[in-house]
Amino acid sequence: MIRLPFRRKKRITVTGLERQHLNDAAAIHAAGFRDAWGDGTLATMLGQRGMTGLVALGPAGKVCGFMIYRMAADEVEVITIATAPKARRSGAASALMSEMIRRCLLDRCEAIFLEVDEANKPARALYAGLGFRQVGERKGYYQQAPANVPDGGTAAHSNALILRLDLKRSH
Ligand SMILES: CC(C)(COP(=O)(O)OP(=O)(O)OC[C@H]1O[C@@H](n2cnc3c(N)ncnc32)[C@H](O)[C@@H]1OP(=O)(O)O)[C@@H](O)C(=O)NCCC(=O)NCCS
Repeated sequence: MIRLPFRRKKRITVTGLERQHLNDAAAIHAAGFRDAWGDGTLATMLGQRGMTGLVALGPAGKVCGFMIYRMAADEVEVITIATAPKARRSGAASALMSEMIRRCLLDRCEAIFLEVDEANKPARALYAGLGFRQVGERKGYYQQAPANVPDGGTAAHSNALILRLDLKRSH
């Protein structure tokens, strides 16, 4: 079952990630992951086949989060998603995910996949709330935990969980 959307705590608008958002998106990525992707990397990635970028804009129009996903045939993979540290827990990531799911349903996609560090509790809670279910695991996949994991320094080799959201029954 698809649960959309999370309760919005602030007014957040989601729109396509354009060239003018790249610097902000790169800064948000750097704050969320140890392996930061610069604006050039993001631009190259978005130029690849099947890639879509979305940004979440706060009440003043400021970029507070972004995501990139890839569609191939009738399946979608979340490549990355992050919210600026000061804007977290305001509904930005859930607004981004909800918009992606809405678009996937319109395109009659069958499923959305993503990988998450098992130590990343905020992200796991986000995905669980949207109905994602674990379908696989990669042991010791992550060399370092994401920057927002409190004990990131000790979680040197954590497992990647592969999650899936089934969209078929919602068509
Ligand atoms: C994970 C992340 C994207 C969540 O973004 P966010 O904008 O803060 O998430 P939202 O405000 O939309 O939260 C939606 C739901 O996710 C869950 N959640 C989010 N942050 C949480 C936290 N710190 N602890 C527990 N649950 C959390 C909650 O269920 C929340 O709903 P609620 O606030 O109504 O309880 C953000 O923490 C982030 O950018 N982390 C660093 C990058 C990262 O780990 N990306 C994911 C890689 S797989």
